[in-house]
Amino acid sequence: LNVRGDKISEETKSLISSLPSDADGQGKKLCKYQGCWYYYNTLQGVLNFHRGFQPQDTDIILASFPKSGTTWLKALTVALLERSKHRSSDDHPLLSDNPHGIVPFLEIDVYIESSSPDLSKFSSFPRLFSTHMPLHTMQETLKDSSPCKIVYMCRYAKDTLISWWFFVCAMHKIELDKSILEYIHKSFCSGAIYYGPFWEHVLSYWRGSLEDPNHVLFMRYEEMKAEPRDQIKRLADFLGCSFTKEEEDNGFVEEILDLCSLRNLSCLEVNKTRRINNVDHKDYFRKWEVGDWKNYLTPEMENKIDMIIQEKLQGSGLKL
Ligand code: A3P
Repeated sequence: LNVRGDKISEETKSLISSLPSDADGQGKKLCKYQGCWYYYNTLQGVLNFHRGFQPQDTDIILASFPKSGTTWLKALTVALLERSKHRSSDDHPLLSDNPHGIVPFLEIDVYIESSSPDLSKFSSFPRLFSTHMPLHTMQETLKDSSPCKIVYMCRYAKDTLISWWFFVCAMHKIELDKSILEYIHKSFCSGAIYYGPFWEHVLSYWRGSLEDPNHVLFMRYEEMKAEPRDQIKRLADFLGCSFTKEEEDNGFVEEILDLCSLRNLSCLEVNKTRRINNVDHKDYFRKWEVGDWKNYLTPEMENKIDMIIQEKLQGSGLKL
């Protein structure tokens, strides 16, 4: 994850030296900026984004904490927006690229190296971006402009943690190792994990969605899995591209869900063989299960997360 962008400016180095710091399980350094933990090169991307991003009111930003269903959300949104252009055609973008190649991250891809990147590839509207930044960090840049639409995908904490563990091991090509899980669990609980604390992240979007439901949509991985038809229609309504009765009668909803299913995407050649940002596309797809944590977390680990999450989300109306 995040191997590009080793150009850290002198200004950023000086900022970093004044910030709280920590390191992940592989020794890669993290620093805490505006309440969120970043690798140094990601922080540079965040600062570049702050400096250079010019929002447009038609922009759509897909947001998530890592390992919460970002890939799925990207695929579903692309399929929704492209549905009339590419129905049943061989040139559908999802057939030739991974969802992360089609919808780049603002701070990890687009702005990682510069505050004035070439945005010509986003010339058609709406422009579709993604981010793992918490909402309060993005809002600094979005304020005073016509607000764009932000969709957040949230997932149960314990499943997110397990998905993160599998991903880290796959990315580093190492066997699943319980000591790595213990380390990730510890970082997750302390909050000092890439883009953490998890609860601050989720709460920023939860509150944003309550304050401004027309511009921030809060979706849940578990609901998407349990009631996919209702949820994709909710997403389409929010984005202003509701399904017509004719489209529903003609099976568009099911087609999109099938196209974006983990089973389908993970079998595509492009997702079996190619890489992005030093990550094999195949590592973005694993199990599509709710409650997989039960197979790996000890009762002590489970209790600790439950207690922290309960305490941190108290009074918010959100349960995870
Ligand atoms: P698991 O590891 O629990 O299986 P992200 O996309 O944010 O990196 O999240 C990865 C998680 O989403 C993984 O969860 C992965 O299997 C799941 N995922 C990826 N693509 C998906 C899809 N098309 N449908 C459902 N889940 C998907």
